[in-house]
Amino acid sequence: MDNHSVSILIVDDDVNYRTILSDFLKNEGYDVDSANSAEEAINRLEKDFFNIIISDLKLPQKTGIELLKTVKSRSEDVEMIILTAFGSVDSAVAALKIGACDYLVKPLSLEELSITIKRLIEKINLKNYASYFKREIFKRFFIGKSKAAAKVIGDITVAAKSNLNVLITGESGTGKELSANMLHRLSSRRDEPFIIVDSCNLSENLFESELFGHERGSFTGADVLKKGLLEYADKGTLFIDEIGEVSGIIQSKLLRIIDTKSFRRVGSSKNLFIDTRIITATNKNLKKMVEDGNFRGDLFYRISGFIIELPPLRERKEDIPHLAHYFMTKENKVQFSKPISRLAMDKLVDYDWPGNVRELKNVIERSIVLSEDKEEITEDAIQLEISNRKNFDGRDGSGIFERKLSIKEIEEKYLSYLLSKGYTKAEIADIIGESERSVYRKLAGVKI
Ligand SMILES: Nc1ncnc2c1ncn2[C@@H]1O[C@H](COP(=O)(O)OP(=O)(O)OP(=O)(O)O)[C@@H](O)[C@H]1O
Ligand SMILES: [Mg+2]
Repeated sequence: MDNHSVSILIVDDDVNYRTILSDFLKNEGYDVDSANSAEEAINRLEKDFFNIIISDLKLPQKTGIELLKTVKSRSEDVEMIILTAFGSVDSAVAALKIGACDYLVKPLSLEELSITIKRLIEKINLKNYASYFKREIFKRFFIGKSKAAAKVIGDITVAAKSNLNVLITGESGTGKELSANMLHRLSSRRDEPFIIVDSCNLSENLFESELFGHERGSFTGADVLKKGLLEYADKGTLFIDEIGEVSGIIQSKLLRIIDTKSFRRVGSSKNLFIDTRIITATNKNLKKMVEDGNFRGDLFYRISGFIIELPPLRERKEDIPHLAHYFMTKENKVQFSKPISRLAMDKLVDYDWPGNVRELKNVIERSIVLSEDKEEITEDAIQLEISNRKNFDGRDGSGIFERKLSIKEIEEKYLSYLLSKGYTKAEIADIIGESERSVYRKLAGVKI
């Protein structure tokens, strides 16, 4: 923030004092206004926004403390500096307790005032930066303004508050994995791992060693102890993708894990207890599979404490323009979004998107490449029906699990920034509004 964009309101009943302060601060380049009483200040606040209020503690009717209370009850975004006469420092300290950021003793040192304001501006900048990052994180969430999308977002929010196992159903590319990740991020387990198990790559042989891990020497080739995914998912969330693909044997094993909340490493006789929330996803009709005897009813019952259904994109076409703009800017890390021509947008909206949002994302990415030297995205850059391939954007297919790092990366950037500014861990915790413990955990991954 430049000085001229910082607005300051001076509240003092002593006209000489007001003038001196006002002239000094104007001279420093701030946008300054003044009031001679708390009442007048409150009037001003109804019409204008001020970043900083500098108020005398002793005012004719309402005191500076009362003004402070009114200001804080309206907005947390206004910072207040209290001025106090020598000898009434106690009440100034009381003011700090109810939210003033600083106090200065009269007669003022103008230099001290200047430094105090500069510190405050840095604090305001940080706050803005923090909310910028929070917004960035939020943008990673499920995009969409249709009724159907709003219902999904509502369901995710409600489910996140509970500890129920959640089943997410929907066609390929509708955002099942994204929703699972968002659910985890919104839940109290957010600082713990989010572990993905892709059932498609999970043969019966691999199942035990991948999920349970194994002790050293438990079989030929097992020369080191290996922790299983379940152990990694302890306290966090285990996302089992494509649950409809797992064999009967694996189904019974999963049932056992859920019922006993425990498992044993291969080659060990010790039960390890785990606390993990299980989210499963499928593009199949699991209920029908249960009826047909292809999926265990008891397992279905246990994984579907809460069911979230993701509607196909063709049933929420209003979301297409939002998603298109979103993928144009965010996902492709471009600074500005090229305009999409009317005809191009019509083409996007008219298409029926069998590959859903993933397909739309691929089409947009391709259109950006094809329009590199053009001012706008035109309809011939919108190439449909060739990008409907699964795994175009996501997994490399080499492992059966991955940890989502994208949001973490954003946080890490922010934390590095704060560290480079010399903030302590306690201060950082305060700034980002999380516990010191969680800051420590997050900083463990930050390279300075
Ligand atoms: N509402 C949405 N807002 C923003 N991005 C979305 C949305 N829905 C899906 N995406 C993006 O589309 C892509 C596909 O989503 P995702 O992998 O979550 O789908 P899926 O249902 O798990 O698909 P599949 O069944 O093929 O595994 C991802 O890049 C995801 O981030
Ligand atoms: Mg998926």
